Amino acid sequence: MIKELSNPVIKTLISSLRDINTDALRFRHIVKEITKLLLYEALQNVSLLSKEVQTWRSKEQYEVLDEPSFVVVTVLRAGMPMFESVMETLPQITGGFLAMKRDEVTHMSKLYYDRLPECAGKTVIIVDVMLATGGSLCDAIDVVKTKNPKEILCLNIIGAPEGLQKVQRSYPDVDVFIAQIDQRLNENKFIIPGLGDAGDREYNTPADQD
Ligand code: PRP
Repeated sequence: MIKELSNPVIKTLISSLRDINTDALRFRHIVKEITKLLLYEALQNVSLLSKEVQTWRSKEQYEVLDEPSFVVVTVLRAGMPMFESVMETLPQITGGFLAMKRDEVTHMSKLYYDRLPECAGKTVIIVDVMLATGGSLCDAIDVVKTKNPKEILCLNIIGAPEGLQKVQRSYPDVDVFIAQIDQRLNENKFIIPGLGDAGDREYNTPADQD
């Protein structure tokens, strides 16, 4: 399932990301804000546990997410602010890392490093800002699937229809929550209109230093 979050708040934040005058600090902040909205949507039907809470009056039972049953996995580097956002909201969730780089000539992603925690039986949330050809996300899903998770959810900020189709065709069991589906990919496999290279925008690196 692919769900695009289309509402005025998201549109406004995405427009700020597209604005070239949005600096790295504000860019990362907006990415984190949008991630929280994606997370709320992705987890809206999750069942809750009852937990004893010492309140100001007495010990009482209240509902909470079973945070240790979730893992958040970031695709470096652009996914880092999304990862931080999820971990700020759910501090007991476990974190994992995949370092990937898309080759700008072949447009294929290459995995350099993976550091995944125990995922068996857990819900794994993969976060990455951009979904262009879908190659990076498919590779990330492949790696995560070797760890036998219960389910995989993906949170993405912006994507192209071509990449989303690839992910959906390859992994119909994986749900993707995305803030904005743009028009298309160009000949260099950049999202159009897009927002530039998210990693470069987040960390002040000119594109030719990749
Ligand atoms: C970007 C982006 C995704 C990937 C999407 O990362 O953050 O990981 O490209 O492209 P795809 O769908 O065609 O695979 P990039 O390789 O530029 O690395 P970065 O995050 O370090 O900038």
